[in-house]
Amino acid sequence: MKRVFSGVQPTGNIHIGNYLGALKQFVELQDENDCIYCIVDLHSITLPQEPKILNKNILDVAALYLAVGLDPKKSTIFVQSMVSGHAELAWILMCNSYTGELSRMIQFKQKSRENESAPTGLFTYPILMAADILLYDTDIVPVGSDQKQHIEITRDLAIRVNNKYGETFVVPEGRFLKEGARIMSLDDPTSKMSKSAKNIHSRISLLDDASKIKKSIMKSTTDSEGSIRFDMKEKPGISNLINIYSSFSGLKVEDIEKKYEGYGYGAFKKDLVDIVVEAILPIQERYNEIRESEELIRILNEGAEKAAAISERTMDRVKNKFGLGLAKG
Ligand code: AMP
Ligand code: TRP
Repeated sequence: MKRVFSGVQPTGNIHIGNYLGALKQFVELQDENDCIYCIVDLHSITLPQEPKILNKNILDVAALYLAVGLDPKKSTIFVQSMVSGHAELAWILMCNSYTGELSRMIQFKQKSRENESAPTGLFTYPILMAADILLYDTDIVPVGSDQKQHIEITRDLAIRVNNKYGETFVVPEGRFLKEGARIMSLDDPTSKMSKSAKNIHSRISLLDDASKIKKSIMKSTTDSEGSIRFDMKEKPGISNLINIYSSFSGLKVEDIEKKYEGYGYGAFKKDLVDIVVEAILPIQERYNEIRESEELIRILNEGAEKAAAISERTMDRVKNKFGLGLAKG
């Protein structure tokens, strides 16, 4: 069995892009692997957060993890800040990384440009991510392709430490989630559906009600040709809708094109509303059952205990190798 580790930041508005691009695969991986899924709240405070909202978002994401089908009997689900090893290992790794390599991280460059003065934590963000991964002897990290550079630096750090101090870390591999499943914005189909876009109709959040979903889909940008044909270049709007239709219904793109030959966009969009609502409704029902339950808190406490036990073994090994504390040599 391979060890799988991934994390999602507890920021609001988890949308169907996150679901189809990431969460659905987390669920598929849990049957054949030893999976650990983390809600990375320490990462989210690299940018200012309102404490009450952050706390609500942590539980929202945890409840959504369970609602989409992550099973605490198969996967370990926990909140990053509840396990102290993450911050501790990050410090040790920071002392083995270089400011030059961190300055080259694209995400840091982008995010620091948007903020007048960048917090130090934003700069060292990739080291905390490396600590998350290395702490659990992870073999496979399923992430979006925007995280490629962070996986690379994690591997570099693991190899560097292994060379200097002897075998300490497992060198992980990234598993880049399907590009094909990239869901585009409904109002501007040339950019990715995103949690932070201002227009709420640009995305379908997993917690949207049926009337909001209907409005967002019916308003979505298409083109003037009027035929339901997949052509991402010339017809990105309708192609994105066909992609969503296909992902939720399981029908192949060609079969969808055939089914809707001679139909207009209005009729197609109406059917798509039904398909999306039907797929999301059971997720929302499970979410509502679990979100306010004691069960959720119990699962997160148990998850943190399990994660802590694994991480403590790694920290003992690391401290020994580095000669820290009362290392056994
Ligand atoms: P983020 O929204 O950046 O926190 O991403 C969480 C996960 O969802 C990552 O693994 C992303 O690759 C994935 N993801 C985010 N947006 C999309 C999208 N529009 N389509 C497909 N996957 C996405
Ligand atoms: N940086 C990742 C993102 O923004 C989140 C993350 C933090 C993560 N730690 C991780 C992903 C460890 C995988 C493994 O999407």
